[in-house]
Amino acid sequence: MVFWSWVANSYGGIARVPLKGRHVYLVSDPDLVYELLVTNRRRYRKNIRYKAAVDTFGEGVLLSEGDTWNRQRLMTQPAFKGQYVRAQVPAMAAITTRFLDVWAGAASNGRLTRDVEAEFLKLTQTLAGHYLMGPGFAAIDEPFHAAALAIKNNWPIPPRSVLALYKPKSKKRQTRLAAALGTADACIREYLDAQKKTDFADAGVLGLLVRKSREQGDEYDAKALRDQFMSLFFAGHETSAMTLTWAHYLLWKHGDARVNLKKEVDSVLGTRQPTAADLDRLTYTECVLNETLRLYSPIHSLSRVALEDDTIGGYTIPAGAMIYVSLYAIHRLPELWPDPDEFDPGRFLPERSEGRPRFAFIPFAAGHRNCIGATMAVSELKLVLALIAQRFNLDLARGHKVRTSAETTMRPRFGMRMTIQEA
Ligand code: HEM
Repeated sequence: MVFWSWVANSYGGIARVPLKGRHVYLVSDPDLVYELLVTNRRRYRKNIRYKAAVDTFGEGVLLSEGDTWNRQRLMTQPAFKGQYVRAQVPAMAAITTRFLDVWAGAASNGRLTRDVEAEFLKLTQTLAGHYLMGPGFAAIDEPFHAAALAIKNNWPIPPRSVLALYKPKSKKRQTRLAAALGTADACIREYLDAQKKTDFADAGVLGLLVRKSREQGDEYDAKALRDQFMSLFFAGHETSAMTLTWAHYLLWKHGDARVNLKKEVDSVLGTRQPTAADLDRLTYTECVLNETLRLYSPIHSLSRVALEDDTIGGYTIPAGAMIYVSLYAIHRLPELWPDPDEFDPGRFLPERSEGRPRFAFIPFAAGHRNCIGATMAVSELKLVLALIAQRFNLDLARGHKVRTSAETTMRPRFGMRMTIQEA
């Protein structure tokens, strides 16, 4: 990531980087990103390396292309729009409160120490599972959680690492991945069998997909539901977990921001659980969230492949070329972000955002393949940040080393051990 930032700062908005006998084009100027992801989008597709992911997750909205993608996106999108998301806020609050009650129960003298990366993975999996499957997810939550972690840990190649293209596949990892996928699929079958008995009456996004298919005269088959669930679940939980992990690291480092956040939460919520209307009023919380997403964008880069010859910013991009958009680099361009490495949530206040190009901040990407779950993610993350600030202070455990690691998401290489103290 630091390398791409260096290339962007040294060579400008578009740069051709030789890499093991081929060229990768780095696009890092907001206007050129607009050309790539919006104006000329039809000349590109997601990187072919996503093929490994298709074998794992199937062809859901995350990975499909062309007409299949178009149909799936239209079907799925309503479940991630404002009103639908708002209706889920009470369930999100109840799940998060139960999760934090476990922290409170485990604390001795009001304190406990945990790797919060692992904790937030668990919480965001439960939140995503409930959102996608409805209350029936609870029956498979535990075994599915273990399988999902094993899938994540035995993933064949990190799809966002350019160098990983050249790494040999490990047989051991493939065997473990196959076993974990077997468990995950068995959990999903068990869930679908249970839902059939009630005709998917309260089955979250999957229930909606079943009803929409019927309106169009089709019956959603089990494989299609499985693929859609896997795609949305994996696209939707690790990103959120990493955001919460980095946000709490940053709040620990910047005590003033932690105090401001707590003040806002106390004045908007007191000790109540947040409603959707409350979330709209948590403006400083949203600034903290955005500043975290700027500095530690969980999806640190996007890659695309040119389907035909193209021109971006006046430069020729030959068919077959690989294009790389480093969100990490764009979010730290000094001409767009003064003191780019500083954590300064206030820079997202409206009066300090004037004149900033729209594509200077793209944690959820942009264009037709932007993040379908952005509205849900923002609501969920503000809600969790607020509920934690109400009850706890999180401090980095003494001696714990923090380093970034550019994997499928940007994660802390050694996890994030923190002391959780009741406020
Ligand atoms: C902080 C949280 C999140 C971040 C930072 C994030 C970021 C992104 C980014 C950058 C992309 C584009 C990837 C690419 O083009 O290679 C993307 C796509 C996607 N995201 Fe998210 N995401 C988040 C949460 C979610 C959630 C909660 C869901 C759903 C439950 C979700 C579902 C998806 C899907 C399905 C796509 C593919 C959309 C398509 O290709 O049409 N994401 N996300």
